[in-house]
Amino acid sequence: MSINLGTRFLGKLIKSPIYNASGVHCVTFPQLDELAMSSAGALITKSCTVNYRDGNPKPRYYDMVNEEGKQLGSINSSGLPNLSYKAYQEYAHKKRDKPLFISVSGMNLGENLQILGEFNEDPYVELVELNLSCPNIVGKPQTGYCFEDMEKMLNEVTKIYKKPLGIKLPPYFDMVHFKTAAEIFNKFQTIRFLTCCNSLGNGLVIDSESESVVIKPKNGFGGIGGIYIKPTALANVHAFSKLCPDKHIIGCGGVQNGKDVFEHILCGASLVQVGSALYREGLSIFDRLTEELEEIMTIKGYETLSDFRGKLKYL
Ligand code: SIN
Repeated sequence: MSINLGTRFLGKLIKSPIYNASGVHCVTFPQLDELAMSSAGALITKSCTVNYRDGNPKPRYYDMVNEEGKQLGSINSSGLPNLSYKAYQEYAHKKRDKPLFISVSGMNLGENLQILGEFNEDPYVELVELNLSCPNIVGKPQTGYCFEDMEKMLNEVTKIYKKPLGIKLPPYFDMVHFKTAAEIFNKFQTIRFLTCCNSLGNGLVIDSESESVVIKPKNGFGGIGGIYIKPTALANVHAFSKLCPDKHIIGCGGVQNGKDVFEHILCGASLVQVGSALYREGLSIFDRLTEELEEIMTIKGYETLSDFRGKLKYL
């Protein structure tokens, strides 16, 4: 039996569905080069702004592990450290043999319009994920949680950005919110993919021994990732795959092994991103996840991802 992990995505053949979540191992050019050389199927940059940002004060990332040292999840409040959109635009001009997504998270509508206006004119920039869900900027709400602001933002950006666009969503928790958000996305034909989902915003992890929070920014509040978020991520992937059938869904949240990748695809994901587990394990995780996914497919007799993509059964 021969297994093919390829996916046709917006006219491109992506050889493996697994790649990094924006934010992990993707700020600097050497990090991006390492992703390009790994067995990830694609790579995505850190969310960029108009200007270079150092990000929030450190420590701003903390790994939660159980007594056996197994990762449970992470909390981060990075604050969008990035090299600026110009830098990632320059990176897009480098030759590479897999697709590059550029994540964009302007500090306001004006920044998003400036960045996307320039990206629209640059044929080397092909795949953009607009991040409407960063929970870690003091005083800046997550646009994805205000439907009116989100629609206004999408109206403006799609006037100037004419290429296929993706949106990184926050997690939603209510059936009415899934439906309302989906109705907005379905109004925009150039929105071609939805990434479900960003971290669970503004969680609080504490250390009872020291009686303290574990990250510095925002008195310890930060985005939660890892195992904790998997059921929420799968719900968002599945809900939006049903509500927005003409768009690709990219799964993100709680991926630690091949079974998690399988489950995201079963819920409807075209591609699957890995965040916290990549941070902990490093780039070799892509080999492990690929092997584990192939093993599951072999046992189940699936040769391609479309044999099971979106085919979740109900009771
Ligand atoms: C951050 O840089 O604070 C994380 C970005 C995000 O969650 O969108």
